[in-house]
Amino acid sequence: MLDGKKILLIISGGIAAYKTLDLIRILRKENAHVTCVLTKGGAQFVTPLSVAALSENQVYDDLWSLTDETQMGHIRLSREHDLIIIAPGSAHMMAKMAHGLADDLASTLLLASDKPIMIAPAMNSVMWRHKATRANVDTLLERGIVSVGPNEGNLACGENGIGRMSEPNEIISAIKKFFANKPLEGLHALVTAGPTYEPLDPVRFIGNRSSGKQGYAIAHALLEAGAQVTLVSGPTRENPVDGANMVYVETALEMLAACEKILPVDICICSAAVSDWRAKKANNQKIKKTSDNEPPTLSFVENPDILKTISNHKNKRPDLVVGFAAETENIESYARSKLERKGCNWIMANLVGKNRNGKEKAFGSDENQIYFFTHADKNPEPWEHMSKKHIAHRLVAKITEHFKN
Ligand code: C5P
Repeated sequence: MLDGKKILLIISGGIAAYKTLDLIRILRKENAHVTCVLTKGGAQFVTPLSVAALSENQVYDDLWSLTDETQMGHIRLSREHDLIIIAPGSAHMMAKMAHGLADDLASTLLLASDKPIMIAPAMNSVMWRHKATRANVDTLLERGIVSVGPNEGNLACGENGIGRMSEPNEIISAIKKFFANKPLEGLHALVTAGPTYEPLDPVRFIGNRSSGKQGYAIAHALLEAGAQVTLVSGPTRENPVDGANMVYVETALEMLAACEKILPVDICICSAAVSDWRAKKANNQKIKKTSDNEPPTLSFVENPDILKTISNHKNKRPDLVVGFAAETENIESYARSKLERKGCNWIMANLVGKNRNGKEKAFGSDENQIYFFTHADKNPEPWEHMSKKHIAHRLVAKITEHFKN
């Protein structure tokens, strides 16, 4: 399972570093490529020579080394791997990661990386239980970092308690589990999200109420399933998705150009609420009130349909294209005709507008109700009312099923 996997192993300062030598040996036996980075603390416990000999690779330890930078810049080092493992993960290393510090090679490449990270913490039990460490661990877990251990037992300091680094075999099992859970590994997904803003003049635009939450949740779920994700996003309040290639745009034309540039991909999910029209000509200067108080007349032209363009792409049509249909009425007939007209594989339809209690049903909300349309099934599959995150996972399960078949 680990054959050919590229692992970047960071060894930070802790007596458990001696166990990491064995971890490197097993990883090599499993045919993984291992590149090691030693922190200053790590180098106090194991030597670069033993790490290099076991990993059969150069060991990196200096952010400022001219040779390291000419041979492999730290940015490249941070991006060229399938998984980054920190073992042992010291309390200090976790604190630096939680706060985004970058004062040596290991912490700098962790900050520069968009790859999944696994950490095997190792420290004295009082340090592990300290409020500061607890808060740092919570922050790291929230960011999706996978933690293995620590275990309870005798500690190097002579005390007994929690803080022992997991055994190499336990870490290997966690690594295998991590790779096994990636059904979409090797596939590239393009997701569009959010509204588009179509300028009228330098200060005004036409937009819509899309929050981008659904598209961002889909990008997260696809990443979790191992896909490579490019998220083309209109203006939203969402945080960038860690691990995704983020491309920010404003207008429909920019969104289409960005998508075309990214093709070919295997999967395309068009969840953006793209404006159907744009001003025929956006004014170069702010449109002023006229002396006769006549409101301006605006002329519009139709925007390109991104979903339709990608669904009908001559030589770069993705294997799977999914569109959304936000309707205020007649959801069934509108969504079915959209499926045919646009040429996508599936349509995720939902009702938009206000509930009886005056709350938005979908736009900006954390929840939604989806009707799932395909060409094969006559009737749509109604999904229960659920969170947008849950919808994203349900969609990813459908995508996984599609690629299995
Ligand atoms: O036609 P309508 O806008 O209702 O279609 C919605 C679906 O089409 C969504 O998936 C949306 O992302 C996509 N779309 C698009 N480009 C447009 C308009 C809609 O990709 N110009």
